[in-house]
Amino acid sequence: MSNNLLLRNAAELVTCRGAAPKTGPAMSELAIIHDGAIWVEDGMIRKVGTTAEVMAELDRTPDQVMDASGRCVLPGFVDPHTHFLFAGHRAEEFSWRLRGDTYMEIMERGGGIVNSVQATRQASPEELFAAGWRRLSSMLSFGVTTVEGKSGYGLDTDTELKQLAVMAKLNREHVVEIVPTFMGAHAVPPEFKGRTDEFVDYLLKNMLPAVAASKLAEFCDIFCEKGVFSVEQSRKLLLEAKRLGLNSKVHADEIVTLGGAELAAEIGALSAEHLLHASDEGIRQMAAAGVIAVLLPATAFCLREPYARARFMIDQGVPVALATDFNPGSCFSESIPLVIALAALYMQMTPAEIVTALTINAAAAVGRADRVGSLEVGKQADFVVLEHPSHLFLPYHAGVNCVDTVVKRGQIVCDKGLT
Ligand code: NIG
Ligand code: FE
Repeated sequence: MSNNLLLRNAAELVTCRGAAPKTGPAMSELAIIHDGAIWVEDGMIRKVGTTAEVMAELDRTPDQVMDASGRCVLPGFVDPHTHFLFAGHRAEEFSWRLRGDTYMEIMERGGGIVNSVQATRQASPEELFAAGWRRLSSMLSFGVTTVEGKSGYGLDTDTELKQLAVMAKLNREHVVEIVPTFMGAHAVPPEFKGRTDEFVDYLLKNMLPAVAASKLAEFCDIFCEKGVFSVEQSRKLLLEAKRLGLNSKVHADEIVTLGGAELAAEIGALSAEHLLHASDEGIRQMAAAGVIAVLLPATAFCLREPYARARFMIDQGVPVALATDFNPGSCFSESIPLVIALAALYMQMTPAEIVTALTINAAAAVGRADRVGSLEVGKQADFVVLEHPSHLFLPYHAGVNCVDTVVKRGQIVCDKGLT
């Protein structure tokens, strides 16, 4: 293992400079350096500039040199919303949806999330670990170097802790960095069917304190949705989680307009996610409160729902991030190329805004903008080298993975050798 690395002659070094979420026109500022170079020591970025500038300051021979001539280099992508750790699958449910059944109809019939809960409760930690490992490796191949992972396929204290403990082990052993979120309020489990208030009580008195004490989660999320958890129940849980040290995220206004965006603004959540049906007023309140919108176009695509109004949100001053939402139900896809294509073609986001949404804004959405999400001195050396010379190829090479090489903390961890 080399502990220093020089990347040089990048046609485009897209630095995405910044340590806070970007809004409005700033989302288009990528701070690109042409003929760019990065000097990495001990996994951290020590110098960034043109190749001439970085070479002039080098006082030693690098252990390793990457020639990025004709290539675009970007910060490693951050996928800030996934449910990647689950057992089993729901391929049959997907085929029913192709026939016309809706996601909520399947959930109301006792399928959906609780189907994955049954499988996850039965799975051993080893089985979950193996499934998680494979999925992280696939994400890495798309250039994802940091991923958020939500629990929520346990819905009881033991299984939620099992999921979070497996994520912690994966975080230690796999190169992809994991930001864990507790989502015990993902659905009402069968043993509490029809007794949602009692389940919320169990969450407040049992699951949440146990998770907070375990220190296995950084955030708390809830499926705030008609027929799942109300705005009042969501407020109660998220405020209690905050008191216990877990910052808030909200699955908001995914299926109907319920006021999830407004709730996220009211309680100062770090992010509100989905937002397919967020109201104008909710969006304005999010902008005023600085809540990050995490948009999930691949989910809208798989559910055949209208896309979230990214253009309106950006124009209103909401910082927008993009994520896959990889999960066994609404979106069984960890494909970053799919997210990029949909954001460009159906959400009126520009290529520059999409890059910001998958790097610095996504890093901010998981509380990591001080460490990752841009290529700057003092940040982790997490970056991707595309097979193309410009970030404009990301949406242009539609649906295709343009990532050739991935570097995590200064180590080459994926190299397809495309050229
Ligand atoms: O983000 N909406 C709730 N949660 C996921 C779906 C999870 C599942 O269906 O297993 C989502 O769409
Ligand atoms: Fe989700």
